[in-house]
Amino acid sequence: MNMDLLKENVGKEAVKLIDDGQVVGLGTGSTTHFFIKHLGMRIQEEELEILGIPTSFQSLILAREFGIKVTSLDEHDVDIAVDGADEVSSQLDLIKGGGAAHTIEKLVDSNAKKFVVIVDESKLVDNLGEFPVPVEVIPDSLRPVTNALIQMGGKPEIRMGIRKDGPVITDNGNFVLDTKFDIEDPAKLEVELNSIPGVLENGIFAGITDKVIVGKMSGIEVINKEEL
Ligand code: 5RP
Repeated sequence: MNMDLLKENVGKEAVKLIDDGQVVGLGTGSTTHFFIKHLGMRIQEEELEILGIPTSFQSLILAREFGIKVTSLDEHDVDIAVDGADEVSSQLDLIKGGGAAHTIEKLVDSNAKKFVVIVDESKLVDNLGEFPVPVEVIPDSLRPVTNALIQMGGKPEIRMGIRKDGPVITDNGNFVLDTKFDIEDPAKLEVELNSIPGVLENGIFAGITDKVIVGKMSGIEVINKEEL
């Protein structure tokens, strides 16, 4: 079984959680690609009235491609958000932002009444920190924020573009500092990072996950926060 099949399986499974009439946060990445695709197919087949709130240009484009009407946080509350992750800890804390979309993802996911994460089993870890924490910074703050992250014990590296010279520019027009940390307390680090002037948002999502759907070679595992 290849990874794409595991991702498609969890995407399809998450679509089953969506009810007619709901406003759905549309996450970003290769796993949520399948969720958006299958949600669009279900909407057409069952003639559902669903609105999506994209978390990136990628998910906006996919929503259009698969026929999902979109709205914004300005206009609607989010009933349920479905998103991917780069790491999921045993406490269901996350590192996100591998696609540099974590700022809007956190806005949408943390405002959802229910937040569901879909991953393949390679994303499960005991403790966060193997994956560097993406920190979105406004370009003018690059040097002082880099210094502040080093002071905090981090190892920041500016994310560079592929098929684009220079740094990655986020959907919000900013840079990303991928910063390796030894993470003891994710919730504390999340708050500390956001208190550095010039930091817009970081990729630690502590304490907001309600459910994780994990695609494994052996099948699908569902982990619910209330059962931990
Ligand atoms: C984008 C994200 C993604 O959800 C995360 O990187 C996982 O992506 P994928 O499903 O492609 O592994 O946080 O900013």
